[in-house]
Amino acid sequence: MNLKNAAAVVTGGGSGLGRATARALAQRGARVGVIDLDASAATAVANGIDGLAIACDVSDAESAASAVDRVVEHFGVPRVLVNCAGIGVAARIVGRDGPHSLDLFEKVIRVNLIGTFNLLRLVSAHMVALEPITESGGRGVIVNTASVAAYEGQVGQAAYSASKGGVVALTLPAARELASSGIRVLTIAPGMIETPMFGGLSQEVQDQLAAQVPFPRRLGHPKEFAALVEHIIDNELLNGEVIRLDGAIRMQPR
Ligand SMILES: NC(=O)c1ccc[n+]([C@@H]2O[C@H](COP(=O)([O-])OP(=O)(O)OC[C@H]3O[C@@H](n4cnc5c(N)ncnc54)[C@H](O)[C@@H]3O)[C@@H](O)[C@H]2O)c1
Repeated sequence: MNLKNAAAVVTGGGSGLGRATARALAQRGARVGVIDLDASAATAVANGIDGLAIACDVSDAESAASAVDRVVEHFGVPRVLVNCAGIGVAARIVGRDGPHSLDLFEKVIRVNLIGTFNLLRLVSAHMVALEPITESGGRGVIVNTASVAAYEGQVGQAAYSASKGGVVALTLPAARELASSGIRVLTIAPGMIETPMFGGLSQEVQDQLAAQVPFPRRLGHPKEFAALVEHIIDNELLNGEVIRLDGAIRMQPR
């Protein structure tokens, strides 16, 4: 898809995978709405790519609706939505202090799953009115971010895995439903990518994690995620699929 002057939305665009994706799309000429809870992070990224920074909580209906409206006003209706906003938490179902906090479980589901669906519904409601731009009648592309934890959640990942499993399960019905409007929906399930999420870990722990990856024996780079997003945008036959991006890792129980 030709992205020159096309509007795009990247959530979680202030950091990690979202930041790399926002930059890659801008490199191809897209006008990117950089959505993030962290306003200064969004601004720093948007300033570097002539994009539009929008502070927004993706899990909040009003906040997200006004963020999408601002992108539409500034750059037009998005051809591309990449959902990267997310949080990772670790908590046991029965921990030292008792049962898993239900508030924490709900928060992870709200941000990772409901936040993803929230942007998907709002952006696709605009996309359906776009003129098709591919020979097959394609109007736009939505890429979500799950995790390999959707399949091999580790001890302490009940909430996170459930949220990402929801994103995986959402992918096919969303692709089926939006197919009649020429909107494709895919999800990337990353393994371990070196982002600020890993920044807090010592080099030793990072090396141990990297050693679990069959090949390449290292953490992934955010630009490898962004490259897959670009390929998904360009390859129209990809639709309704969840693609693992993980160097063949299969996470162990702990
Ligand atoms: N890095 C990895 O190895 C990895 C692996 C699997 C899945 N993921 C997923 O990829 C996505 C991006 O992760 P990352 O590694 O880039 O993390 P990151 O922490 O670097 O970036 C996440 C961004 O999302 C933003 N965010 C959090 N809650 C938000 C909300 N409610 N509304 C709007 N923005 C919000 C944060 O401010 C942050 O800028 C997440 O969904 C994560 O679960 C990452």
